[in-house]
Amino acid sequence: MNRPFQSEGKAERAAGTACGGILMVGDVVGESGLAALESLLPALKADYRAALAVVNGENAADGIGMTEVCAQRIFAAGADVITTGNHIWEKRDFLPLLDSDSRILRPFNYPAGAVGHGSTLIEREGFNALVINLQGREYMHAIDCPFKAFDALDESLALAHARPIIIVDFHAESAQEKEALAFYLDGRATVVAGTHTHVQTADERILPQGTAYITDLGMCGARESVIGMDMTVCLNRIKTHVPYKMEAAKGAGFIQGIAVHIDAASGKALSIERWKRQ
Ligand SMILES: [Fe+2]
Ligand SMILES: [Fe+2]
Repeated sequence: MNRPFQSEGKAERAAGTACGGILMVGDVVGESGLAALESLLPALKADYRAALAVVNGENAADGIGMTEVCAQRIFAAGADVITTGNHIWEKRDFLPLLDSDSRILRPFNYPAGAVGHGSTLIEREGFNALVINLQGREYMHAIDCPFKAFDALDESLALAHARPIIIVDFHAESAQEKEALAFYLDGRATVVAGTHTHVQTADERILPQGTAYITDLGMCGARESVIGMDMTVCLNRIKTHVPYKMEAAKGAGFIQGIAVHIDAASGKALSIERWKRQ
C-alpha cells in the first residue's frame, strides 16, 4: 500500500535545546528523482521545520552527473547545499560551476588541484554549519584518505577557534568504511550520512559521543527501477557483462533521507529520523 508519508525509524538521545532540523536527501537520479524532489521536498522541509537541506545530486542528469539546469531545479526545490560523488565529473560543461558556486560540492578528498571544493559554510540563526562531502576508497578510486582529509580540516578549524556544526556526506560503496569513518568522527561531526549505494539502510542511530549516523540515505528516483536506473538495461548488463550505457528509469518517483535535530550549543545530535515520501 502506498502511503503519502512514511517515517521509517527514529533514534533519540537525552534532550537538549533543539534548533531547526537538518534534512539530508539521497542521490537524485534523473527526471523521476528531480520531479519527486520538486513536488515533495517543500512540504518535508515545513514538516521538520528544517533550517538546512543538503541534497546529493550526482545522478541528476539522466542518471549520471549534473548540469546547470539540474542544479537550479534542486536549489529551487529547497536545497541549500548540493553534495555529489564519483559521477560528478561526467558532464564536462558543468565543471566550471564547481569552482564558481560555493553551494555545490565535490568530494573534499580529491587530490590537490582538482577543480571545485569539498566544503561550504552555511550561516543560520543560532548556528553555523560546515557541510563536508567526502568519498570512500574501498571498491572506488584510490583518491586521498578521507580520514586524514577530515583530520586536516578539523585541525584548521581548531587553529581558527571555529567550531561549527559539521555535516558530512560520505559518498562510499563499503558499509564497513562508512561505519568506520562514522565512529572515527563520533563527537567531532554532528551528522555522518552515507550516499552512493542508492539503497536506504535501516541502521540510523546516534553514536556514543553524539554523532547522528546512517550508512546510506537512499535515493530520489523512479519507484520501478534498479537503483533508479532502467531495469532492462541493468538486466542486459548483468546477464551479458556488456557495459551497455545506463539510463535513468522513468515513472513516478520517491525521495528518501533523514531528518536530524541538533543541540546547537554542544553540536550533538538529539534525534535522527529516517523517512521516505512518495
Ligand atoms: Fe549515486
Ligand atoms: Fe556515486
